[in-house]
Amino acid sequence: MGMDGKIEKMFVGATFNDFLMRPQKAIVKTRKMVDLSMPLSRNADIAMPIIGANMDTVTGQEMMKALSLEGAFGFLDRNCSIEEEVSRVTYVKNQHSFVIEHPLVMNMNVTMGDAKKTADARNSSSILVEDKPGSGILAGILSHRDMPPINHNEKLIRDFMTPFDRLITAKVGISIEEAEALMFENRIEKLPLIDTKRRIKGLITMRDIKLVKQKPYSTKDRKGRLLVGASIGATGDYMERAEALIKAEADVILMDIAHAHSDVMQRAVNNFKRKFKNIELVVGNIGTAQGARFLADLGVDAIKVGIGPGRGCRTRLETSVGVPQLQAIREAYLAVNGKIPIIADGGVKNDKDIFLAIAAGASTVMLGSLLSGTDEAPGIVVEDPTTRQKIKFYRGMTSPEAVVDGTRGDTDEALSTPSEGQSVRVPIVGSVVDVLKRVRGHLQSAVSYAGEESLSDTHRKIAKNPEKYLIRLSEASKSESFDR
Ligand code: XMP
Repeated sequence: MGMDGKIEKMFVGATFNDFLMRPQKAIVKTRKMVDLSMPLSRNADIAMPIIGANMDTVTGQEMMKALSLEGAFGFLDRNCSIEEEVSRVTYVKNQHSFVIEHPLVMNMNVTMGDAKKTADARNSSSILVEDKPGSGILAGILSHRDMPPINHNEKLIRDFMTPFDRLITAKVGISIEEAEALMFENRIEKLPLIDTKRRIKGLITMRDIKLVKQKPYSTKDRKGRLLVGASIGATGDYMERAEALIKAEADVILMDIAHAHSDVMQRAVNNFKRKFKNIELVVGNIGTAQGARFLADLGVDAIKVGIGPGRGCRTRLETSVGVPQLQAIREAYLAVNGKIPIIADGGVKNDKDIFLAIAAGASTVMLGSLLSGTDEAPGIVVEDPTTRQKIKFYRGMTSPEAVVDGTRGDTDEALSTPSEGQSVRVPIVGSVVDVLKRVRGHLQSAVSYAGEESLSDTHRKIAKNPEKYLIRLSEASKSESFDR
């Protein structure tokens, strides 16, 4: 066990369909009570152990938002300009938080016509009014109820706003419960936040409070905003990209290359750590005990495991390099003694595979193809002319299609990138929210069969003693189990 990559015999050459779990005496009354939270990285937990792959047909901004809202997580892809990736981070950061940190502010001498136009363009239902252009000093609020029934486009905001002396305001840092109570007592829908000098610091709306309270399990940062993951490489613009993403308040950075057990990665991680302190850094991919140990020694916060199991991946076919995914997970888990969270990346075809990855030692699972047919995945829906089925395209990040987009038209660069990926058609499956609901149900069932109340207890129990709980299948039992 440990350093040399020695693992139990049952895991040698093994992948998902090689195992079943022995059922244990159940202790939960209903599976709905089963807790699925797991560590994402050393300093962050998520309510369900699913992570959207950093691929341009999987985790765009809508997917990132949906995953965090549902208590899962994801990493935005980097097959785009730095500005584009940053704008996606900013988009998600501004969604669904109970505090609007940058509300629409206009000065009180602006005309009502201009105010309405700007508010409509920003899809904003209220405007915080400042006394002078750029002063940031709160002078009033112009909300729906201040809008006159007939147009007074030539008049000024100051003629209609509710002025400061009639406003209820609060200080930055007010909790969601305090804000809700204050707003209820005063029967107001909007609560401007100011500092001691009356400077505008944000806005809380009752609508946002209600939305946030509907999903208490969402993956959030300390300020109650959705947690965002973003990816960088290990060469080229990676430090510049990291700096821009961190400035935009990306919470977890994934440094991701095909072969992370490398000198290139060592240099990149060291550079990153020298410059950015206290930023969660996930690194991958590796597929061996030695690779996991190497990343652990570099001080990373989570290790992403998977060499070649992905659906859009041709590495094993083109180079004959790879490690069967459950073997890889097991090697990594034992190499770090379960002390650093492991993200099992690639090859998950069924919900049961997620459970097995976690039973074998992973903390979370990264999904590409399984999420790629959802409404939230980037890409357009087309109809397959032969089957008439609605489909999207899912492509490996080194597929010719993704490489062409990533090089933004540079043919020489595109041709010099060896392709180890492919593009496939995936059926449309509806919202990722429903996919996650299904996954949640299946994981909760599996935990109940495992005789535990939580996935983290199940993970601890089985990963410590897999020979007691997992059954390695014969060819005949595989057929009995999976041929349907
Ligand atoms: P699944 O099976 O969930 O896998 O679709 C997602 C993972 O596949 C990896 N990936 C690639 N691997 N060539 C590869 O060898 C590629 O072009 C490629 N693109 C994605 C990646 O780890 C992803 O998370």
